[in-house]
Amino acid sequence: MATAPTATTASTTDEPLVLGIETSCDETGVGIVRGHTLLADAVASSVDEHARFGGVVPEVASRAHLEAMVPTIERALREAGVSARDLDGIAVTAGPGLAGALLVGVAAAKAYAYALGKPLYGVNHLASHICVDQLEHGALPEPTMALLVSGGHSSLLLAPDITADVRPLGSTIDDAAGEAFDKVARVLDLGFPGGPVIDRYAREGDPEAIAFPRGLTGPRDAPYDFSFSGLKTAVARWIEAKRNAGEEVPVRDVSASFQEAVTDVLTRKAVRACKDEGVDHLMIGGGVAANSRLRAMAERRCADAGITLRVPRPKLCTDNGAMVAALGAEMVARDRAPSDWELPADSSLPVTEPHVPGRGPGGTRPSADGHTHDNHGHGHDHVHELSRKNLYTS
Ligand code: KG4
Ligand code: ZN
Repeated sequence: MATAPTATTASTTDEPLVLGIETSCDETGVGIVRGHTLLADAVASSVDEHARFGGVVPEVASRAHLEAMVPTIERALREAGVSARDLDGIAVTAGPGLAGALLVGVAAAKAYAYALGKPLYGVNHLASHICVDQLEHGALPEPTMALLVSGGHSSLLLAPDITADVRPLGSTIDDAAGEAFDKVARVLDLGFPGGPVIDRYAREGDPEAIAFPRGLTGPRDAPYDFSFSGLKTAVARWIEAKRNAGEEVPVRDVSASFQEAVTDVLTRKAVRACKDEGVDHLMIGGGVAANSRLRAMAERRCADAGITLRVPRPKLCTDNGAMVAALGAEMVARDRAPSDWELPADSSLPVTEPHVPGRGPGGTRPSADGHTHDNHGHGHDHVHELSRKNLYTS
């Protein structure tokens, strides 16, 4: 396997300096990047507050974001050793995610952007999970094939341009891969989130001990879609049968066999998509990309198929602000139009919209050429101050 190059380009001051805010689920993430260089990655997680409920409670997450926001932004600026005045833009996850949680991030990003006179970039959480790999392995090849596997999503995406053109090839028709890990962990009484614990137990188990089903892998099934609900049920039934028979549940073997079924299907379909589309790179992102078996299996299968695999380090795979900053920096570098002040938090933002240019009535969009694009004929002078060009020259 050809190993993806590590980003070696030294950060230069003409590369865009962007702060990114992520609040789509239970992590308050604030990252700062300059071009492809990671300067700070501050994350405050409310995961412990959700653990006793066995899943993320939206209201608890929103409140935690509100409390963590300002200290996390300050921590990121300190870590990066930059002043907010030097930023070239502020990027924020506009969706998809939990509506109330997203709203906290979007409101904070608007407040900072407005107060500092910086352009605002509302970006897509899923595209950010892909773009973060630029911080690890340098510029993404175009097109990039991405397998995105998290608690909320399992998708195969073809991205000719991560800032403007992301095409879904397939996705889960029921549960997301991470959701399956979380649900199986719950049945095994392993706590929440389930992925990391199952990953640990699986290391000591036999992946071939139990033959769990591989969903949607028949010859007539959609080649790039996923289904994990049947697998989850099969695991739950198997465990129940053991318990009913008064036998001990072999947690390590169940974990390893379940994990094997998930990672087998994910890697098989991803490699097939690369071959079918003639793409020689595969990027894997999202929380489940932290899974050790997924990484090892993908490495072997990609090597066998002559595909270069790119997987960011685990901390960049789970939700964080650096990924949002990475996509924001790419938006600035490619002169994408900033969002307007009407930027909405869109809980079901489609993956085909990597960037949200704003859409509210009277929305005025500053552009890189220093002119305002007035959606409805009511431009405002202050918007000129917010254009990227003005920031660079002031
Ligand atoms: O991307 P992420 O942090 O948040 C979402 O956008 O969903 O992903 C969280 C998910 C959870 O379901 C968690 O169980 C799973 O990623 N996860 C893992 C591992 N680490 C986190 N799944 C399998 N193996 C892991 N090592
Ligand atoms: Zn995510």
